[in-house]
Amino acid sequence: MIRVEDLHMHFGGIRAVDGTSLEIKKGSITGLIGPNGAGKTTLFNVIAGHYKPTSGKVFLDGEDVTGLPPHTMFDKGMLRTFQIAHEFGTLSVRDNLMMVPAAQSGETLWNAWFHGKKVKAEEEAIRKKANEVIEFLEISHVADELAGNLSGGQKKLLELGRTMMVDAKVVFLDEVGAGVNRTLLRTIGDAILRLNTERGYTFCMIEHDMDFIGRLCDPVICMAEGKVLAEGTADEVRSNEQVIEAYLGTGLKNKPGASA
Ligand SMILES: Nc1ncnc2c1ncn2[C@@H]1O[C@H](COP(=O)(O)OP(=O)(O)OP(=O)(O)O)[C@@H](O)[C@H]1O
Ligand SMILES: [Mg+2]
Repeated sequence: MIRVEDLHMHFGGIRAVDGTSLEIKKGSITGLIGPNGAGKTTLFNVIAGHYKPTSGKVFLDGEDVTGLPPHTMFDKGMLRTFQIAHEFGTLSVRDNLMMVPAAQSGETLWNAWFHGKKVKAEEEAIRKKANEVIEFLEISHVADELAGNLSGGQKKLLELGRTMMVDAKVVFLDEVGAGVNRTLLRTIGDAILRLNTERGYTFCMIEHDMDFIGRLCDPVICMAEGKVLAEGTADEVRSNEQVIEAYLGTGLKNKPGASA
């Protein structure tokens, strides 16, 4: 689904991504781990088109998509969530969801929503879709709540919900489970599994919580210092000598197994 070849992203002297090559197989939930500063988020940013890489290639379904802007990648079905949730705090949860297809079709919100009969019908279709997402994620009780009032975990769930408003092929989740309580983490995990099995979503998820990763992901890829260190099952990666060493360098706090 996604292939990254010898990717480099340098910021001045900082080699955030320094020769990464990896593959995200269609239908997989691929985990991406690595100590803080390993280059995981930067890799996502390059794949999603937020940065043009210093060198290297990104392929989506065999097509060279290197350096295409985020909205083009979005149109091609490549969605991502952000490490810091970026909901519209003064809009309801439902309206936050309804914003997504409008953004994809390139319509300005005001044109799309407030002009014409056709637009009215479209709005109804989008509302219906938003209600389905709300039901799927079991967040009906907060559907009319302002997104800004949600708990941190609920905001993460909303981020996931946004990826369900359009037809996604591959979704990149950046620490969707970080700082989320156990109950909500299970809900998020269940939603990811259902999207994967029932809707055929391919996922690549950055996560620090190895239990969460272990439950959802195969394979798991570990990055350190901008490079891929190891790939395998969660257990294989967790017991890999180089992986353990990379984490030891950053102190116990970030060891695999410790919650982020
Ligand atoms: N826009 C930028 N300008 C300069 N340096 C950057 C930029 N973005 C990231 N970096 C640097 O690149 C390195 C990799 O950062 P990145 O955020 O990709 O790591 P990460 O693996 O996502 O870490 P974390 O687990 O803490 O989120 C870090 O040293 C970071 O400071
Ligand atoms: Mg990061």
